[in-house]
Amino acid sequence: MTTTAATDTAATTAARQVDPAEDAHREELAFLAAHDPGPRPPGWRLTPRAVVTFVMGSGGEPLSLPRGVTVDGVRSRLVISDKFVGERALVERAVITLAGERGLLLVGEPGTAKSMLSELLAAAVCGSSQLVVQGTAGTTEDQLRYGWNYALLLAEGPTPRALVPSPVLTAMRGGGVVRVEEVTRCLPEVQDALVSILSDRRIAVPELSGTDAATVHAAPGFTVIATANLRDRGVSEMSAALKRRFNFEAVGPIGDLAAEVDLVRRSARAALERVQADFAVDDAVLEALVTAFRDLRNGVSEEGWSVERPSTVMSTAEAVSVATSLGLAGAYFPGDRDAASLLPGHLLGVVRKDDPGDAARLLSYWDGAVRRRAESGARLWRRLWELRDVLDA
Ligand SMILES: Nc1ncnc2c1ncn2[C@@H]1O[C@H](COP(=O)(O)OP(=O)(O)OP(=O)(O)O)[C@@H](O)[C@H]1O
Ligand SMILES: [Mg+2]
Repeated sequence: MTTTAATDTAATTAARQVDPAEDAHREELAFLAAHDPGPRPPGWRLTPRAVVTFVMGSGGEPLSLPRGVTVDGVRSRLVISDKFVGERALVERAVITLAGERGLLLVGEPGTAKSMLSELLAAAVCGSSQLVVQGTAGTTEDQLRYGWNYALLLAEGPTPRALVPSPVLTAMRGGGVVRVEEVTRCLPEVQDALVSILSDRRIAVPELSGTDAATVHAAPGFTVIATANLRDRGVSEMSAALKRRFNFEAVGPIGDLAAEVDLVRRSARAALERVQADFAVDDAVLEALVTAFRDLRNGVSEEGWSVERPSTVMSTAEAVSVATSLGLAGAYFPGDRDAASLLPGHLLGVVRKDDPGDAARLLSYWDGAVRRRAESGARLWRRLWELRDVLDA
């Protein structure tokens, strides 16, 4: 008994690699709940406006709690950190969808922060982002409905105690948000389980018929946020019935260069802070990195020159991981090689994922845009041009 308790404590206090959004931003969520006392949709922790503020941040401006209001462990003035970079209108529409208890489907290219957005929304709306079903080809209907604890089932037959609820069923009971990641990867017949859940708002448990537990009804506030990746089995293969039950929101790449550079710097710095290292990559290198990603992603350079597009998605998420690697290299191998000299190798690593022909496309980017920038005299681009050999192996 004692051992179990001790193990439990150790498990809850142990360091984690990643905190869920509701833990990472606990103070902000408690602050926003008190900051905006307006009416909330049933089951919501925050007002819809406060949810949008949580997701988008307060733009560096501190917000204040109303006069006379205090919350334990929460400052009375707080800057809400910037999180999702993108259109505010998109986030507002997403929040309205959820307030109407409709399903929300975030679709887009890989690495456009669909999962991050769904996690932030779930944390803000119901205080937990952890009710998640990960869609794969192996996802079964049980994972969307319920299963059984076979030991209990054998010992006492089908009882409410022996029922193992899915995250969906748990969210229904508690009036919370369940996230279904990569919903289009589930087989069509498994996706169809969601159709009845989203229209009837209840799950029948025939094994328990004749008892109160034979039907689980969704409490007010229950909604589903699903994500789907355009590079996988497409959204076009979703059944029409399921499509109709979701409001679609397309999440695109970040439009503005400066905003993307900012995000990459902020995320890479945060990743280095987690390992207690300083992020010391030059702004010029970061800007070159993000510029190269954007040029290759868009098929046209900042200057308007045409660029051959690799088949790999050059996502912001990968730009963040390259920036983090550059930062880590600087922190753990100080004085070895500067960040600029590592950049071509990292870009090659990103580009080479899908199609070996992509390496040639990166080389032709070097022979085009990089060379022209070098010729125009930009120092960093001259340096990158000199490193062309790295790509020509
Ligand atoms: N618009 C954005 N705002 C904030 N962060 C972003 C944005 N785009 C990309 N990122 C970064 O990308 C990371 C990964 O995003 P996430 O995993 O949520 O993408 P995704 O769209 O779910 O990708 P996938 O389709 O591969 O699952 C985020 O943690 C963040 O660092
Ligand atoms: Mg995702």
